[in-house]
Amino acid sequence: MTAPVLEVHLSDSNAADALHHDVRVGLSADPKWLPPRWFYDARGSELFEEITALPEYYPTRTERELLRRSVRQIAARAAVDTLVELGSGSSEKTRLLLDAFAATGSLQRYVPLDVSESALRGAMAAVAREYPALAVHGVVGDFTEHLELLPASQGGRRMVAFLGGTIGNLLPVERAGFFAALRAALDPGELMLLGAGLVTDPAVMVPAYDDAAGVTAEFNRNVLRVLNRELGSDFDVDAFDHVAAWNAPQGRIEMRLRARHAMTVRLPAVNMTVHYAEGEQMRTEVSTKFQRTELEAELAEAGFADQTCWTDCNDRFALVLAEAA
Ligand code: SAH
Ligand code: AVI
Repeated sequence: MTAPVLEVHLSDSNAADALHHDVRVGLSADPKWLPPRWFYDARGSELFEEITALPEYYPTRTERELLRRSVRQIAARAAVDTLVELGSGSSEKTRLLLDAFAATGSLQRYVPLDVSESALRGAMAAVAREYPALAVHGVVGDFTEHLELLPASQGGRRMVAFLGGTIGNLLPVERAGFFAALRAALDPGELMLLGAGLVTDPAVMVPAYDDAAGVTAEFNRNVLRVLNRELGSDFDVDAFDHVAAWNAPQGRIEMRLRARHAMTVRLPAVNMTVHYAEGEQMRTEVSTKFQRTELEAELAEAGFADQTCWTDCNDRFALVLAEAA
């Protein structure tokens, strides 16, 4: 086994600058909002893993089943020497891909990229132990900024996996930028495997983001704990209620935090004082659910051709394999 390599594109000072920028923009907007990237400190990554096992949270198990069904076809599509995974988290479902690629014999390297260094380190150590023949090259980075820094192929092709429906957490303009940047980072013939949530019954979608055990509520409030720690702010975390709402016109679940009473919050690191009215809602995440044909059209528009799409029997989730044209 070769020792895993960790490449850090997000130093503490880069991350601090990015957080300061996002907080300045988001908390001075009306309505207030924060990007979801800041959920994922070590605790946030653990809470997300707990979410994936909740009975209400269908996306993870649905995608796992889709992968089980399709991995042989995916691995047979092309001889891939590098599997890159964006927002890899625990890399749990990735094992299905790694097993299928191991059977074809072409894969030499796994490159997980994530903003959460703790999740990345844990996943890398486990994958390196379980797949001793595979070189593991982790990247601490932001998939909206660092795609051009991905390691080149080793003479063959790369496949970039972006699983879990995380594409839905980008706003439309960010998503367009992301697809364009990913296409630009790939050589013609290299592959993308995308997992995306589809629009389904709100009675199924909303509980997935508002579970009975309250884990998603804790995950949502965790962003305030991150701000308190990183910015020295004084959010009273328990004074915010978790809200999950289906925004039908925009085709997305929105998570928000609703102030129980009027309050003033100080954020010394960004030199801000922010007021919340009683009942005011601050958006902390969008989780876009797609119409399959619209997603396929967006991908084609961005330069991804020869698409193969697998969906579950309830049409709640899609896996799309496509080739950089
Ligand atoms: N792919 C895994 C994890 C999904 S959770 C799965 O399907 O279960 C989303 C992951 O993306 C988290 O691990 C989080 O740390 C990471 N993430 C969120 N925003 C990111 C960004 N801007 N750049 C890189 N990683 C990000
Ligand atoms: C990571 N991402 C795809 C999850 C989602 O479903 O949008 C994050 C999440 N938010 C609440 N629960 C899970």
